Amino acid sequence: MKSLPLGVTSSFQHWDPYPISIVSAKGAWMTDVDGRQLLDLSMGFGAMLAGHLNPVVVEETKSALNTGMLFVTPSPISTDAAERICRRFGIDQVRFTNSGTESTMYAVRVARSATGKSDIVKVEGGYHGSYDPFVVSSKPSIDKAGDAEDPTPVADSNLVTGNVYVTPYNNPDALERIFEKHAKTISCFIVEPVLENIGIILPDAGYLERVRELCDQYGIVLIFDEVKTGLTAGHQGAAQRLGVQPDLITLAKSIGGGLTLAAFGGKKKYMDFVSNGKMAHFGTFNGNPLAMAGIRAVDKICTADALATAEAFNQQALDRITEIIEEFQLPAHTVGFGVKGCITWSVAPVRNYRDYKATDFAVAELSWLWSLNRGIITPPGLDEQWLISLAHGQKEIDILVEDFRSFAVALRS
Ligand SMILES: Cc1ncc(COP(=O)(O)O)c(C=O)c1O
Repeated sequence: MKSLPLGVTSSFQHWDPYPISIVSAKGAWMTDVDGRQLLDLSMGFGAMLAGHLNPVVVEETKSALNTGMLFVTPSPISTDAAERICRRFGIDQVRFTNSGTESTMYAVRVARSATGKSDIVKVEGGYHGSYDPFVVSSKPSIDKAGDAEDPTPVADSNLVTGNVYVTPYNNPDALERIFEKHAKTISCFIVEPVLENIGIILPDAGYLERVRELCDQYGIVLIFDEVKTGLTAGHQGAAQRLGVQPDLITLAKSIGGGLTLAAFGGKKKYMDFVSNGKMAHFGTFNGNPLAMAGIRAVDKICTADALATAEAFNQQALDRITEIIEEFQLPAHTVGFGVKGCITWSVAPVRNYRDYKATDFAVAELSWLWSLNRGIITPPGLDEQWLISLAHGQKEIDILVEDFRSFAVALRS
């Protein structure tokens, strides 16, 4: 413990009173250091969509290991992975990285090179990894965040952010006001098509379409951060499911079967700035064979049918939990997208960060601790959602739903 700050390898892993230490995981279950079996509904924030130790991922990785670990040269396995990603997500070109943070950083660099402009617009409450400009207003305290229609960008004092404008989600008029004022210096608008770092917030009908129009009108590159949505949104990702095409897309977590892997890509006219060297993209481990084997495996496993089955289980959980909320008249509602779901502790729908901040965090924390004490791991922090992977089945859905019922009974007793 002494050698790791907070005893963890990523600050997300730390929670009070102490995090649970895991020694192994298989399918939808984990075993902790005390030998306790835990139902995993976090699934590596979505990276374990295929399930822990999915046999196809293990097989593909083992066969890659038989051929070598790192070549730092082009290789048929990386070309194959690129073609699979482009086909699936409907993009022209892709480059691989090692984390979502790297991918969002490079996507912004592409946009900056392509437009010759450097400012960024992001959504209030939107998280895109830990590159400095993205940490602006990712979870600002409301007393510093100013007007809800025209949020004040809030940055930690030690960040080097450049100009970052912050806009409320689901508010195209507010976005247009920023574009009108600053289009000459704004390179890109980065947004998760569905916000998934403050529960799940769905786009209003027409919001993303209007965002697309505004970006075209003002010459601003539209980046969809699909690090969290990706294949958890459906077999071709959120952009295709929602029918709005970004200029650039960032992917991570769900595309790699749990291997260390991410990607950025999109339209050729933007990726040409990687080819022409104006935005050279480097990285020793980019496209390493093990990670590429993860892509090949996931592409084989995550068929439309397999994901539809997981989504049907998720829908069943959402429906049954909604019934319990109604039966016990709890001030909550469920939100789902693809294979993810969450319970939001407010009666009113949540459309943006300010609505989210008005939800009941005390009950949310209680609910999370309740489940954790009963052998169910959902992501730490109250802002995440559960994930029904390809390894979850009826038994696991029943456990999730019955656990919520017991919580509802306790709340009302
Ligand atoms: C939407 C989004 N973008 C980017 C990232 C950063 O990804 P990574 O943790 O792989 O750096 C995250 C991480 O959770 C994320 O949720």
